[in-house]
Amino acid sequence: MTITSPLSFPKDFLWGTATSAYQIEGAWNEDGRGLSIWDTFCRQPGKIYQNANGDVATDHYHRWVEDIEIMAQLGLKAYRFSIAWPRVQPDGKGIINLKGLDFYDHLVDALLAHDIQPFVTLFHWDLPQALQDEGGWTNRQTSDYFADYASTVAERLGDRVKDWITHNEPMVAALSGHFLGEHAPGLQDPIAALQASHHLLLSHGKAVQVLRAGLPADARIGITLNLSPVQPASQAEDDLLAAQRTDAVINRLFLDPVMLGRYPQEAIEIFGPIFPQPEPDDLKIISSPLDFLGINYYSRAVIRYDADFPFVQGIQVLPKGNEYSQMWEIYPPGIYETLMRVWQDYHPVKMIVTENGIPVADGIDFDERVRDYRRIRYLRDHLEQMHRAIAEGVPVEGYFIWSLLDNFEWAFGYRMRFGLVYTDFESLKRTIKQSGYWFSQVIRDNGLKPDTSETYLPD
Ligand code: FCB
Repeated sequence: MTITSPLSFPKDFLWGTATSAYQIEGAWNEDGRGLSIWDTFCRQPGKIYQNANGDVATDHYHRWVEDIEIMAQLGLKAYRFSIAWPRVQPDGKGIINLKGLDFYDHLVDALLAHDIQPFVTLFHWDLPQALQDEGGWTNRQTSDYFADYASTVAERLGDRVKDWITHNEPMVAALSGHFLGEHAPGLQDPIAALQASHHLLLSHGKAVQVLRAGLPADARIGITLNLSPVQPASQAEDDLLAAQRTDAVINRLFLDPVMLGRYPQEAIEIFGPIFPQPEPDDLKIISSPLDFLGINYYSRAVIRYDADFPFVQGIQVLPKGNEYSQMWEIYPPGIYETLMRVWQDYHPVKMIVTENGIPVADGIDFDERVRDYRRIRYLRDHLEQMHRAIAEGVPVEGYFIWSLLDNFEWAFGYRMRFGLVYTDFESLKRTIKQSGYWFSQVIRDNGLKPDTSETYLPD
């Protein structure tokens, strides 16, 4: 779509990028870091594309100074990163590894020195392996260990970090990790997935409470959920119901307990006897008040009835004639639909788009430029749709692009490039892509100017 009039965003809008520890840090066995479930999972042959792993990743652990300089060059207002729990507590509980905390301490200081607001995610899937050996998220006790870990990190960084995200996408951690088996720890067990889901949420609530108690009054606490509009493949009754069931499991199973303090009746019915039985105060803890809701938006799900697919009896279909990326359908109105729906149904105090982005098979051109125009188009179209929601009164405070730089994309290994910065995975050299320069212009303009900027070139 061509933009014909300027789209300005609210004053002080937070423009940022997001990353996560396992996907960028590398240094898997340095300075006392313990093993995470992703170290273990990647070592199982056939789990990851080309059997890759995050041992080196983008080597951010050693190159963070350069990475922050790039962020400053782009003019980022905010940066969302995650803390590796096994760096802070190699066994997930007990002994604290001060060198692990030092790393994040220095990172935070350097971000602040460049006027970049740090957003800390406490859990982005890299559970300490030692806790997995005791059942991981299927073990209720892990929720207490998580709260202890959260308070350890808060004690060290809480004087400078104002924005805290407990979990990233608990749906993916629970379902991809314990039911589909595509992510660590690689289980394919629906009971384990539901237990994990409940304990992840419980750990979120417990962490909110300890953070609230331990952090200064101006700290802001939230959680990041990945949400997708779920639409039926046709208006047939079967398809409509399958879409509703899917929505109950992939969206409302997480939104309802966090925002409303109850599980959706539909999900309870879908899973029947294997649905977890919360203890008396669990849902009260899980719904502890938040200062913002983080939303990751990538795509939508179009669902057709399929009696064979367990529980939801629906499978995802790919409508013909639409545009797709290497991973998902490109559906910009979905970010508008998601923000509107969450606002209308749940009224969070504030919302922040904590991830949005696209994988593109980027390459370096003859003149050392990376012309990732498809990414620019994707981002521009999503910004336009997000602007629509803001114009209609939805309180969106910020927008983080996934990702700062190409990195380890979980089961896809290094095949998917999501960065505004190109990573050469041999030399680890970074090259700012055209989308990076384009985003930097968006930040300077605090919005989109009327132009056809998808072929944006810096001066
Ligand atoms: C999200 C994850 C993030 C990254 C993007 C592409 O689900 O939070 O780590 O993998 O997808």
